[in-house]
Amino acid sequence: MDQHWPWWPLLPLYPYGRRRTLVRELIAGQVWSFEQLQGIFYVAVPIRMTVVRLKQGLLLYAPVAATQDLLAELRQLEILHGPVCSIVLATSSGLEHKLPLPALARAFPQAQVWVSPGQWSFPLNLPLSWLGFPSGRTHTLFVDGLPHSDELAWESLGPVDLGLGRFQEISCLHRASGSLLLTDALVAIGAEPPELFDADPTPLLFHARERGDEPLIDSPEQRRKGWQRLVLFASYFRPASLEVVPLSQVWSQAFRPGLRTAKSYFGLYPFRWQSGWEQAFSALLAGGQPKLQLAPVLERLVFPRHRGVLLEWLRRLARLQGIRQVIGAHYLAPLACTGADFGRLASELEARPWAPSGDDWATLSAIDDRLLRWGLVPGTVAETATTNPNKKIP
Ligand SMILES: [Fe+2]
Repeated sequence: MDQHWPWWPLLPLYPYGRRRTLVRELIAGQVWSFEQLQGIFYVAVPIRMTVVRLKQGLLLYAPVAATQDLLAELRQLEILHGPVCSIVLATSSGLEHKLPLPALARAFPQAQVWVSPGQWSFPLNLPLSWLGFPSGRTHTLFVDGLPHSDELAWESLGPVDLGLGRFQEISCLHRASGSLLLTDALVAIGAEPPELFDADPTPLLFHARERGDEPLIDSPEQRRKGWQRLVLFASYFRPASLEVVPLSQVWSQAFRPGLRTAKSYFGLYPFRWQSGWEQAFSALLAGGQPKLQLAPVLERLVFPRHRGVLLEWLRRLARLQGIRQVIGAHYLAPLACTGADFGRLASELEARPWAPSGDDWATLSAIDDRLLRWGLVPGTVAETATTNPNKKIP
């Protein structure tokens, strides 16, 4: 049952069958980034797998789709640095990182697979082997041990009870390069669109328009504008400056001459951006530069009642020796930082109002309220900082 579970047709993931992989060497001879675009319709954001050279060979952290291009690049690295020996899924909930794992594991049948504790699937909580994870060589981090612990330091964020399942993420410090590998926990957002969009900027140009009947115009300004709006979508789902246009109006602007192509979605564009979106984007940076931060979606939907768990994890990272950069699975990487930056972030998060509900946060807050009302997420929580990665989640 671990063969070819047909995942991909189930989700309308952009860019469908035309997935391109951008490979960058982040730390010479030690760490590489493999980036692909992933998203629903044209809300496409880059997703990254990080490859680390260890004594035994290569470790793959946060899988991406095992395309022919990606496998060819990995085979080249194997020739130079040794075989892929470990594949790590370090999140219990992040579906976009979980779905690519079975195919990647099949491509490297000698590699050991390590997953975060508490894996779950929705709507049916299926065993990992049913989802295509190889049963004979899949291990659970912390429960079955920790791989390469002479070269890597593993730290657990959570677990946090989400009701349907858990959020848990295992960060990994590669001591030799000082690289802290993360999945979703923290992000660093750049003002300019990632290089990955160079080959096809359509998702950016799509969102750079003011109305559905505008043509897609390619220019550096339009790409930047589209990128910044995409980030706002991904960060807040519906930021305050985004008006959703009534269907009748959307329809009246669609299907006009020049728009009758799938690329411009036939002119169907149900959004109108109000003034203020630029300021909302600027707030996600620090003086125009990327900053280490918790994504708003995580603050409002995962940690609204668990700030203590997050702060405790940040302070544990602050005590780790030798962090020189962070490499997350989304957005910009690497971001130069030290352990002190994690301590500072913890203090900042502790000092400001937590999980706000107004302005840009209103939609996220409404989702959380609804989940609470329906009893799908636990309401009151004893705020105990968790240092036990195997803690039982009811
Ligand atoms: Fe993710």
